[in-house]
Amino acid sequence: MNWLRKPSSTPLWRDEFSVFTADERYVNRRQFTKFLTLTSFGMLAGNLWILARSLFHRAPSFPRTPVAATDELAVGGVKLFAYPTADDPCILVRTASDSFVAYSQKCTHLSCAVYYAKEQNRLECPCHQGFFAIADGSVLQGPPQRALPRVSLERKGGQLLAVGMEGEGA
Ligand code: FES
Repeated sequence: MNWLRKPSSTPLWRDEFSVFTADERYVNRRQFTKFLTLTSFGMLAGNLWILARSLFHRAPSFPRTPVAATDELAVGGVKLFAYPTADDPCILVRTASDSFVAYSQKCTHLSCAVYYAKEQNRLECPCHQGFFAIADGSVLQGPPQRALPRVSLERKGGQLLAVGMEGEGA
């Protein structure tokens, strides 16, 4: 173990910053302890940051925006709107007399606008033939890997309100 330690007459800085290339392959106990300590502090800081982030993380809040009157669309009818911002195009579909669904209109592949194909009862992207289920926005076919983000709807009187977004990328 003598090869680990230098004679005590050697200044500390020579231990830390060796000028001899051959010495660089030796790691003395002090350097190893310093490395372990710094690594442990780094891991501790990282874990504390993750803990603080999870404790203070708040779910994003969404506006409550009127989308349409419940009697505005016939069954199979479609209305385009923007939610939660003016730059987020969405599509509302009346799937049955008492059922409405709404999704982001941006295809999860390369963001082309999806449209409602009434005969197939699905949302279709014309760019690369990506198809999405109308029931939950999941991918039926094509290159998209993720479902369409869904707009949460709420009824208030005769109005449909958009109240939030669900799904990846929402
Ligand atoms: S952009 Fe929609 S399938 Fe490619």
